[in-house]
Amino acid sequence: MTAKRRFLPARFWGLSNKLIATIIAVILLVEIVFYVPSLAIFRANWLNDRLRVGVVAVNVLDAVPDVMALPRNLTDRLLTSAGAHAIVYRRQGQSQLIELADPVTPDVVVTADMRQTDIATLIMGAFDTLFAGPGRTLRIVGEGDLEASLVELLMPERPLRQEMLNYSRQIGALSLAIAAATAVALYLLASFLFIHPIRRLTENMLAFRQEPENGTLIIAPSPRRDEIGVAERELAAMEQDLFSMLRQRRHLAELGLAVAKINHDLRNTLTSAQLLSDQVATLDDPKVQRLAPRLVTTLDRAIGFAQSVLEYGRQTSVPPAPVPTNMHALIEEAAFDARLAGHPTIVFNNQLPDDLVLNVDGGQMGRVVLNLLKNAREALEHAAANIPDPAVNVGAHATKADITISVTDNGPGLPPKARENLFVAFQGSARAGGTGLGLSIAREIAEAHGGQLLFKDQPSGTRFDIVLPSTLQA
Ligand SMILES: Nc1ncnc2c1ncn2[C@@H]1O[C@H](COP(=O)(O)OP(=O)(O)OP(=O)(O)O)[C@@H](O)[C@H]1O
Ligand SMILES: [Mg+2]
Repeated sequence: MTAKRRFLPARFWGLSNKLIATIIAVILLVEIVFYVPSLAIFRANWLNDRLRVGVVAVNVLDAVPDVMALPRNLTDRLLTSAGAHAIVYRRQGQSQLIELADPVTPDVVVTADMRQTDIATLIMGAFDTLFAGPGRTLRIVGEGDLEASLVELLMPERPLRQEMLNYSRQIGALSLAIAAATAVALYLLASFLFIHPIRRLTENMLAFRQEPENGTLIIAPSPRRDEIGVAERELAAMEQDLFSMLRQRRHLAELGLAVAKINHDLRNTLTSAQLLSDQVATLDDPKVQRLAPRLVTTLDRAIGFAQSVLEYGRQTSVPPAPVPTNMHALIEEAAFDARLAGHPTIVFNNQLPDDLVLNVDGGQMGRVVLNLLKNAREALEHAAANIPDPAVNVGAHATKADITISVTDNGPGLPPKARENLFVAFQGSARAGGTGLGLSIAREIAEAHGGQLLFKDQPSGTRFDIVLPSTLQA
């Protein structure tokens, strides 16, 4: 296995930190949404409280028959208890001003009209106070306790701002505490329910991928019935399958090696027997003369079989090494190897354009065509008596998506046994001395080039199409 080693992210860099960060962010966002209106209401209540104190102060002074006769420091104390510099009370067309003994002349005056109670105005007023500079004076306007009466209070803005800041700080601290506590609680819950089981799955996948043939690494699924439980059971089943498939593959590979070894020795033994049979064939004995040719053909076939099995073992594992290849020339060469070029009875037509160049593995693609041409020749020779003008044609046809090279003959067509086991190695042969490897190797090579090998059923004769993707065009 050339698997690259992969690691799980450290505990706090995985899902957990994302979860914690998301929870805290969401809670803080919710807190901000609640904080803004609550600050505005806090300010409105504070201002209304001041107004009420102002009204009480006015009422107290009202009870005195002659205000002017009151000692100054009593008025001052009343004003200070309301936190104000001055109070103006208007009713029935009269207005009354009460102010400190040493009147303060304010620089900047902002009005807070408490008769406007809509939340937007309150929020804007709250932000105005919060972000204002120092030294402003507030003019609080509100209704008095009598009908059509109006109270105005002049006071510094600083104490209000100070209290609003305190309030914000408290809310901030509380929000953080709530966010942290919720995050921890949710994290513990999510860890227990999801993160821990997901880590277990991931760890198992990583470990199993390193050693898929180690049966003890197959995950033991928990009895949970949710999606994670299903994932665990599916993973366990997949690992089981993979484990048995790999084991089977190893056994097959070992068997294959053994077959190749036996086959190799068998071929050598047969070759020695062939030498002997050649010697025997030269003997004059008429009996020997009758039997020797059969012995020679039988040995030839056996050697051929051993040879193809050896080649099959070698071939299938090599991936194609594509280079620009002239297909017309490739077909010519294959026809020569298949003993079709210059055949005494069979006419061979190579109809491929001279300039068709494809990026293919010349050796492998040559073998595909060679197998198809050899099959066609063998079929035509075998049925020679019934075919008046035996011929083999190779043509090409291109569409946008692919290039098709067809090998067609006017022979007897595929026998039923070959049709049933088409492209199955060692099974498809329907002729004496055939291994049944030619077509299966040809298909494998075509597929390794990203193409296909297709049998095209015809009313007479046989046609195979090698379909290659047009991207192979050089
Ligand atoms: N052009 C053809 N016309 C008639 N029969 C064919 C043709 N091509 C293939 N066949 C049949 O299909 C069978 C399988 O072909 P395949 O090339 O796979 O194996 P083989 O020729 O028997 O053996 P090998 O090619 O391995 O020596 C052949 O035995 C033959 O009966
Ligand atoms: Mg063949």
